[in-house]
Amino acid sequence: MGFIANKNRLLMPALLSILLCSTYSGAEPTKFGKLPKIKVNLAKAALGKRLFFDTRLSGDAIISCATCHQPNNGFASKEALSPGYPGNKHFRNAPTLINTVFKKSWMHDGRIGTNLNDVTREMLTEDYIMNMDMRLMQERVKQDPVYIEMFKKAGYGEPSNGKVRKAIPEFLKSLTSTNTAYDKNNLTAAAKRGFTLFKGKAGCAACHNGPMFSDGQAYNTGVPENLDIFTDVERHQAFIAFNMFMGNENYMALKRDVGAHVRTHNADGSDIGKFMVPTLRELTYTAPYMHNGMFATLEEVVGFYNAGGEQDKNKDPRIKPLNLNKHQQMDLIVFLKSLSSDKPLTSAKYVWQKDDYSYQVISNWQSVKN
Ligand code: HEC
Ligand code: HEC
Repeated sequence: MGFIANKNRLLMPALLSILLCSTYSGAEPTKFGKLPKIKVNLAKAALGKRLFFDTRLSGDAIISCATCHQPNNGFASKEALSPGYPGNKHFRNAPTLINTVFKKSWMHDGRIGTNLNDVTREMLTEDYIMNMDMRLMQERVKQDPVYIEMFKKAGYGEPSNGKVRKAIPEFLKSLTSTNTAYDKNNLTAAAKRGFTLFKGKAGCAACHNGPMFSDGQAYNTGVPENLDIFTDVERHQAFIAFNMFMGNENYMALKRDVGAHVRTHNADGSDIGKFMVPTLRELTYTAPYMHNGMFATLEEVVGFYNAGGEQDKNKDPRIKPLNLNKHQQMDLIVFLKSLSSDKPLTSAKYVWQKDDYSYQVISNWQSVKN
């Protein structure tokens, strides 16, 4: 009995806050704010950075994380649909990794809700992504004396696959945006007008709020399907493998990316085509946009919203024609750009080519003591 009473005491505030949320009215000011500061362990991040750019972490030592999360494109893929492990191509856009450390669930469908260690494992081992066997990865890393030193310096001891999955997220922690006009309270007059529209007439803040400009939920906004998924055999193959593994019915004939349906599997299909609200930070560098890269520019994105999205029976009712004139659309775009850093994060300390990882190769290892 005592236990139940205690549980109720914990439940009450939770229930109350749900009630409060459901009575939320548009009149209440929406919260935005700045991202929290985050501590990064430099030795661990330096190791993670090297691993991030190292092709030896993929099966045939042919691609690295950076092949798809391209640093000169805001750590997102330039291509509408991401590349894949050779022999495959991916069926979604590779999202930016800038600020990914602040997320609570990852992937366009939000299917990984634990931590970046798990996301990293998925990236490494998935056949159509890096196709790596982690035992093999561990042995490869151990062959490199510079890695041995770097793992030691990071306080990890001997290289292991578990430590690789810790070091990479530490590097991801270093990819945060702070140097934006928005964070510096330095908005131009046009950006201020855009922000007013964003919070008001354009209704963007209903879903894009908080310091990430995302409420971390999934909605159907009526983004059109990217048909390359079905016409390109190499993409379709990865798409089929994914849907089969996710337990989606009729995956051979499926002609759309079901999105967050993989988490909820609503029998009536009302959750089909919902995707996670992405962050709006760093958009200047991360085109093309949406889970499938269907929009090449922010002009196209704003045009899409202004028209009320495209047809979809599950479309969120808040996506409706906005009647913004050309000037208002421009102001909105200027505001969106104020959420990007002044310079791309590739500059200065993030350019990996500047690091020297060379070492003396042992010509006859049998004659050398361990
Ligand atoms: C072959 C291309 C490719 C490679 C290589 C790759 N990724 Fe990804 N990554 C993607 C795609 C595509 C997605 C989105 C997948 C989805 O929504 O199902 C993604 C998603 C992510 C996410 C989730 C981001 C978010 O906002 O939800 C993280 C974090 C990530 N990758 C990190 C990495 C790391 C670290 C590596 C290297 C170990 C890596 N990726 C290698 C293509 C790639
Ligand atoms: C009903 C919730 C909702 C509203 C309202 C909304 N969005 Fe979105 N937004 C989303 C979702 C969900 C996505 C991801 C869709 C996808 O990947 O297919 C998205 C994606 C975007 C993207 C693409 C970001 C990227 O990195 O790919 C931009 C830019 C954007 N929205 C801006 C806006 C603007 C500007 C407004 C107001 C005119 C707005 N949104 C209104 C939910 C919403």
